[in-house]
Amino acid sequence: MASPEVKFALRLASDAGRGVAALLAGIGDRLGLFSALAKGPASPEDLAQRTSIHPRYAREWLHAMAAAGYVDHRDGKYELPPPQAEVLAHEGGGVFMGGTLQMLLGMIATMPWLREAFVTGKGIPADAYPPDAWEGMERDMAGLYETQLVSEWLPRVPAVRGLLQGGGLVADIGCGRGRAIFTLAKAFPNARFVGYDVHPPNVEAAQRKAAEAGLSDRVHFEARDASAGLPRMDLALTFDVVHDAARPLELASAIHEALSPHGRWLAFEVRSEEDPDANSGPLTLVRWGFSLLYCMSVSLAQGGEGLGTFGLTESRMRHLCTAAGFSDVHMELLSFHVLYEVRP
Ligand SMILES: C[S@@+](CC[C@H](N)C(=O)[O-])C[C@H]1O[C@@H](n2cnc3c(N)ncnc32)[C@H](O)[C@@H]1O
Repeated sequence: MASPEVKFALRLASDAGRGVAALLAGIGDRLGLFSALAKGPASPEDLAQRTSIHPRYAREWLHAMAAAGYVDHRDGKYELPPPQAEVLAHEGGGVFMGGTLQMLLGMIATMPWLREAFVTGKGIPADAYPPDAWEGMERDMAGLYETQLVSEWLPRVPAVRGLLQGGGLVADIGCGRGRAIFTLAKAFPNARFVGYDVHPPNVEAAQRKAAEAGLSDRVHFEARDASAGLPRMDLALTFDVVHDAARPLELASAIHEALSPHGRWLAFEVRSEEDPDANSGPLTLVRWGFSLLYCMSVSLAQGGEGLGTFGLTESRMRHLCTAAGFSDVHMELLSFHVLYEVRP
């Protein structure tokens, strides 16, 4: 019988292995190794040839991925079982995790900043994150938008859908690289869209993508700190933004000020328990991790509140909306998130 100390040491070693497996899977995502494997079983040499990587690295990586249970190994060939293929190789699918892995790679690159921030409390500036962090964020959310936003979320908030159908002016605040707008613009051809983001490289990427998608006539992007004020709009969207914002009350007040009287604010947020330690489920640990690696830290770097990934609880959101002058907050529970439909 192993002692409790040995058992815990082995658990920690296993956790360290899982962490490394996720980083190695991230490298696989970046180099197209999973999509190459999804084309059919491959020996290490086949994979090396399909992807132009070095065969020695192909072999070692496949051993690691087999040990992690991400690929199967049979008769000298490695393959992605269908569920793993869906998660690791189906870009834009509802359970695709390649974006999460890329985001993790990007955020890990800020480790020296994070160590320093633990001591100073001063956070990590947005500029410290490499493109992998931002592109990973975009890919992380894209599958949700493409598979759930129009078909599952909007039917639960009919007034919001009505504004989109009626050709309203829609602002996506904290739009990142614009993926939610692109999904909505295709589904609601009468509406006009503007995306605001405080991080200029996101806005540049979004503008480029709008042009590539032929949507530039109805979709615009602008670099702007939304807390400092916003132009008029009929529908305000914040998708995964308020808990990251440096000044959530100023952001909510700016939205309230800008919304037309019949308008709505739709906020998509992380589902959070009032008692932080009561958060549970498969996403809990990775969310605490991303809170330190990004959400809390990027807000603190702006002298902000640093709510953190789990910091915007229902009671805090209601308090925020009341303080900003909104009259009503309706909450819809999703599996791992919530939608707030807020009335001026
Ligand atoms: C977690 S990301 C979500 C991006 C996008 N909504 C999505 O779902 O992919 C949060 C975004 O909010 C932006 N943001 C945070 N505070 C902001 C503010 N005050 N004004 C404008 N954008 C802000 C950040 O730059 C970042 O791109």
